[in-house]
Amino acid sequence: MNILLLGSGGRESALARVIAKSNLIDRFFISPGNPGMKQYGECVSLDGFAQIGDFCKNNEIKMLVVGPEQPLVDGISDYFSNDNILKEVTVIGPDGRAAQLEGSKDFSKEFMFRNNIPTAKYKTFTAQTIAEGKQFLRTLKAPYVLKADGLAAGKGVLILNSLEEAETELEDMLNNEKFGAASSKVVIEEYLSGIECSVFVLTDGKNYVLLPEAKDYKRIGEGDTGLNTGGMGSISPVPFCDEAFMQKVRTNVIDRTINGLQREGIHYQGFIFFGLMNVYGEPYVIEYNVRMGDPESESVFARLDSDIVEAFSLVKQQRLDEYKIRINKMTAATVMLCSGGYPESYEKGKVINGLDKLTDAIVYHAGTKENDNKEIVTSGGRVLAVTCLGDNITSALNKCYENIDKITFDKMYYRKDIGKDLI
Ligand code: AMP
Ligand code: GLY
Repeated sequence: MNILLLGSGGRESALARVIAKSNLIDRFFISPGNPGMKQYGECVSLDGFAQIGDFCKNNEIKMLVVGPEQPLVDGISDYFSNDNILKEVTVIGPDGRAAQLEGSKDFSKEFMFRNNIPTAKYKTFTAQTIAEGKQFLRTLKAPYVLKADGLAAGKGVLILNSLEEAETELEDMLNNEKFGAASSKVVIEEYLSGIECSVFVLTDGKNYVLLPEAKDYKRIGEGDTGLNTGGMGSISPVPFCDEAFMQKVRTNVIDRTINGLQREGIHYQGFIFFGLMNVYGEPYVIEYNVRMGDPESESVFARLDSDIVEAFSLVKQQRLDEYKIRINKMTAATVMLCSGGYPESYEKGKVINGLDKLTDAIVYHAGTKENDNKEIVTSGGRVLAVTCLGDNITSALNKCYENIDKITFDKMYYRKDIGKDLI
């Protein structure tokens, strides 16, 4: 079978690595991919749904795996199902309506409330209802959580300590389009205090396979300080996600989500990423994503011992219950190497050295490209993810940091405290 994977980051590198291991594939294409992904498949440059569709027709692609959320929210899955030939392709990723679970915070909160899925209480406001929004803020306690309704490249959530700041930001989002059209609606919600974790399933709309959970480190600075980023590192498994907690996650969160989707006639096939807050042992959903996490995927897929393509191939016929997932018991740790300055402005084009010196580590490219001299250079904020397996968190982390010592590029930055809070 021929497969096409869409994306170019660390998450897609991790997906590409496990897809490439499958015995079920003949040709494996990645668009656009990155220099590090060339070891897994053939990188091709395709622009827009029409080009992707034509490529699939011309290359007998039987499976399309969509890494990032944007094409899903934009309806790539619908584009395929509405075409007489492309509808035969298995698309791993939900249709545009189902992708609203990530594409609209208001949609996802309404869905959670309708389906009795534990989440923070909230209300949604527009420019016409700013006064009511301010009124609602006064009924809440600090800190205040304001979320742009739409996709805002991971930047649309503000957590504010004072009522005044919250009111000012609410106005900025609604009146001044602080996050563009994404903040034409704003969700204000109750602050949940607890510890976060990420839980992932692959679903065919009826059955699901539970993947390993992970913890992500979102802030740029050590000790979880400073600006939010896409994620600076991850650990899997997560010690506090014990059997009792995971049982509640399955019953109160995953089952209710899958049942709710079915009941509401929302056909979902693909990954669901549950961003959870563990509040005194009770899981609350902070957000849904309609894709895998990054840098969670790097750790999660490093622990997968069964064939992911076999799972994908059961999705279209809703036979995922036949898949026997095998997870290894090792601990995976991932540390992201970033361009100095990220998540604010940073320089690109820095030559990366030492990639050939790593031992017992996976290095996933996240933001790299090849320059005219065929050198690997930085091309993004998050540049490389280094993932290692160990018998426990400490040994996995030690291996990560030993390997990182061999990698250099100008202004390289990474957090030295990934996973320390879990030891
Ligand atoms: P989101 O994009 O919805 O995942 O939000 C980004 C981050 O903001 C989350 O990872 C949390 O750290 C934080 N956050 C979002 N909603 C809440 C909430 N209701 N209470 C506490 N923290 C939150
Ligand atoms: N690491 C969080 C995310 O992928 O959204």
